[in-house]
Amino acid sequence: MQIRVLDDAEAVGREAATIVCGAVRAKPAAALGLPTGATPLPMYRELGRRARDGSADFGEATGYAIDEFAGVPFYAPGTNAEFFRAHADMGLRALTVPDSGAPDPDAEVRALATAVEAGGGFDLCVLGIGANGHIAFNEPGSEVDTSARVVELTATSRRAHAAGFGGLARVPALGMTLGVADLVASRRLLVLATGAEKAAIVASAIEGPMRAEVPASWLQSHGLVLWLLDRPAAAAMRKTDA
Ligand code: PGA
Repeated sequence: MQIRVLDDAEAVGREAATIVCGAVRAKPAAALGLPTGATPLPMYRELGRRARDGSADFGEATGYAIDEFAGVPFYAPGTNAEFFRAHADMGLRALTVPDSGAPDPDAEVRALATAVEAGGGFDLCVLGIGANGHIAFNEPGSEVDTSARVVELTATSRRAHAAGFGGLARVPALGMTLGVADLVASRRLLVLATGAEKAAIVASAIEGPMRAEVPASWLQSHGLVLWLLDRPAAAAMRKTDA
């Protein structure tokens, strides 16, 4: 595992964009696992900028959402589909997001995992980490061998999305997610965390034992993981190599 600590969230976004662009330069038809949330916004802004100024070309690359809500119409405000429509404007050849309105969300998310696998797997998967340690919607309790499935969202995760859905009561109870096993199958992983509210969980995921209570701790089992942290998010770690 590699850990890089940068000054602030913007610097994390720029560095993340450089890594994503590097992966696509090395393999133009790369398959990318892509996160949503506040953390990756600076990365998407930078990717859009680089695509527009011609310094990066995503025209052959494919993106996949790593999770989505279930039980609300496709592109409803607050969904990951809507997030990507608004923020992922780097000109990917294709971006696959499971349909949050699918009548059978379990089949829908399993189809996503099958599509990723059929495409040869992720060359790079970018992740955020929830304040409760989740990766994608693998909430606390998720074992390392979990596959794509429908999950009940925790109160913490639902609260984190209340604003996007126009109130806590409107946040779906269920989510669809690639499993921990699907995520760690990615050839490389890039994990982004910024802000003091992530400091404790980041320290626990990186320095604590691997355990289902902190799903992000499973990333320790992968040889090619890079964590990009800003200083506040790195503050609770005992040591960093940065
Ligand atoms: P956030 O979400 O970037 O909005 O904090 C992170 C996550 O849940 O993966």
